[in-house]
Amino acid sequence: MKKHILFVDDESNVLQGLKRMLRGMRHEWNMVFAESGTAALETMAEQDFDVVVTDMRMPEMNGVELLEEVKKRHPETVRIVLSGHSDTKLILKSVRVAHQYISKPTDAGELKDKISRSCALLDLLQNKRLLQLVSNLEAVPTLPEVYMQVVEELEKEEPAIGRVGRIISRDPAMAAKVLQLVNSSFFGIPRHIESPVQAVTLLGLDTVKPLVLAVEVFSKFDSKKIPSRDLERIWDHSVKAGAVAQALAKDEGLDKSLTDDACMAGLLHDLGKPVLMDNFPEDYSKILRTYRKSGGSLYHMEHEAFGVSHAEIGAYLLGLWGLPENIVEAVGFHHTPDQCPFKTLTPLLLVHVANALTQAEAEDRNEDGLIPEIDAVCLERLGLEDRLPGWTVICREVMDMESEG
Ligand SMILES: [Fe+2]
Ligand SMILES: [Fe+2]
Repeated sequence: MKKHILFVDDESNVLQGLKRMLRGMRHEWNMVFAESGTAALETMAEQDFDVVVTDMRMPEMNGVELLEEVKKRHPETVRIVLSGHSDTKLILKSVRVAHQYISKPTDAGELKDKISRSCALLDLLQNKRLLQLVSNLEAVPTLPEVYMQVVEELEKEEPAIGRVGRIISRDPAMAAKVLQLVNSSFFGIPRHIESPVQAVTLLGLDTVKPLVLAVEVFSKFDSKKIPSRDLERIWDHSVKAGAVAQALAKDEGLDKSLTDDACMAGLLHDLGKPVLMDNFPEDYSKILRTYRKSGGSLYHMEHEAFGVSHAEIGAYLLGLWGLPENIVEAVGFHHTPDQCPFKTLTPLLLVHVANALTQAEAEDRNEDGLIPEIDAVCLERLGLEDRLPGWTVICREVMDMESEG
């Protein structure tokens, strides 16, 4: 099915340029061009759009104001800014309403790639209510104590950016947000990101401070909805899974970039869980209780209750936020690696294994019921089935180190 894309820019020659640049996509996309925010909203009232790509500085209604309206009226539409301006105030404002930020000048390849990826993601979440909900999520909620640690550090007279980075790198929700900001070139840093710590350092104190204190890009978990112990557990498991995936990647001799991606994907793999917990606290508590009492597969229970699981929700959100494909794929299929065609060892397979091993090694394995099994067929396909005993040893070592802090 053709996807519908709306481009908005007050300069008609820019729109003409986009038309020329993207001519090759006309069989896949139905492209509409609007010369103002008002015209864009009028068009959107008549026709549904999958993606809207807007300029930032426009007379009457600027890009941020337009996207705020789009967010309210058409929550499921993917919102992308394409701008050549570097007005920090406006960029800071756009952080809350734009999913991605592409800086001008851009080439046809980058633009096609980003829009195509956004379109492909839309097919991942087949539940419209969840699609709207996740599309409108500005941040995944995190533990109030950890959030406060970041705020306290930033409020100091001389905050240490390294310390801020280290706190964030152990918190999947905040890590995901900073990775969105750097990967999406909101602040012009398009390059391979090694880790959340590096992402925070690249953003720098001058950007991180207003983002956290004024724009409030991170959000606190409401402990009335779900006990913070549940979130603490997920975070603890996520940090360990990330460290284990990284260690396995190193042991298998994967290159630096894949090793980094495996580590970040491990950290982020269960990001969809707090989204479900926060939005459906009663349903989710019920699922957790059943899971703890009688075991089974949390992944399948979520599918039964919501039509999708935390894996697809996490992948959708991270894809929407412009994180690298390797990470999005690993998060989306960490419970079902067989659904992904792969010919080599990828971050996905490492996260799948790291998730299962860390869960099996965790102290509360009995309380949490069954351990998700490792897909033996996938390992056999790559001739890696004999690696498991060695990987288990590595997992134990990493987890011991993590527990010792
Ligand atoms: Fe999971
Ligand atoms: Fe997990």
